[in-house]
Amino acid sequence: MAMITTVQQHILQQQQELLRSTGCEASGTFSWLLSGITLATKMIEAKIRSAGLSDVLGAAGAENVQGEQQQKLDVYANQALLHCLGLRDSVAALVSEEDEQPVTFNRDAETGRYIIVFDPLDGSSNIDVNVNVGTIFSVLRRMPAELGTLEESILQQGFRQVAAGYVVYGPSTVLVYTTGNGVHGFTLDPKIGAFVLSHERMQMPEQGSYYSTNEANAAGWPQEYRSYLAMLRDGGLGKAYSSRYIGSLVADFHRTLLKGGVFLYPPTAKQPKGKLRLLYEANPLAFIAEQAGGVATNGAGRILDIRPEGIHQRTPLCVGSRREMEALTATLSGAAVS
Ligand code: AHG
Ligand code: MN
Ligand code: MN
Repeated sequence: MAMITTVQQHILQQQQELLRSTGCEASGTFSWLLSGITLATKMIEAKIRSAGLSDVLGAAGAENVQGEQQQKLDVYANQALLHCLGLRDSVAALVSEEDEQPVTFNRDAETGRYIIVFDPLDGSSNIDVNVNVGTIFSVLRRMPAELGTLEESILQQGFRQVAAGYVVYGPSTVLVYTTGNGVHGFTLDPKIGAFVLSHERMQMPEQGSYYSTNEANAAGWPQEYRSYLAMLRDGGLGKAYSSRYIGSLVADFHRTLLKGGVFLYPPTAKQPKGKLRLLYEANPLAFIAEQAGGVATNGAGRILDIRPEGIHQRTPLCVGSRREMEALTATLSGAAVS
């Protein structure tokens, strides 16, 4: 029988490695947390697989804090994560795209050591047309009481994340995560209901051949973004590019992680601060991108250095492989592309 490594086994191995290399006792708490996330994503996946048959398609008839029409699956996915994670006593707070305020648990700083931030269902507009959607999560450690309040712990800069990951629900269901020790991918084996290691130590190629952006917004972008895409199209980076845009960030990111290339959500006329959310979209994916040898900026600086001011704060997001991102940074800073 081929030996398999489930995500639970993998995270425990990682913790043993961490213990051996740093001597720091990364207690099993984190793997217990992760099992809460993976359980919720399996519940979400089951609902998505048969969405057309049960009454979970379409709008839920309410607006979320973003002023966006909540889809029934947004609500279901949010409930699944809140339920599975709320039961873990190591959780101090849960921050969701779908909830205006964090859900906090009055656990002392010793017990409630983690904060989990998540986009329960990313790409909601694609649910009804059976196109890939995803779940994105980010894990922060609560600061000791003398160093900061729970609120300040929630608004830590992205480089302080202790883990980040996503699940993309597509032809197969793939979980990708990092704890700062490389990026690893797991494919859900429906026969046994476990996420099984399928992509160990994922590395983004140095350069890809796709650019991914919603060109319908191009007129509202800062001019440099239009010049950049024109340069890519004219072979300015020494190769031809093709356009791929799915409209679900997790799916567009997953392709970029595997194939390289660049994903851009620049400032637009409608959303001059960008559309994507810093805490539960840009930060977790930026952590993964950097761990895989890629780059993630807001057009001006590193995503992971941004000091968050609010839990639903938006940011422009430019993320991709080194060659394309070097050229973008040069273009945006007015320097000639080498
Ligand atoms: P969500 O469904 O969680 O609100 O996220 C949707 C986001 C992201 O998934 C995607 O990249 C982006 O919206 C697409 O926006 P446009 O339709 O404006 O291109
Ligand atoms: Mn989203
Ligand atoms: Mn969402």
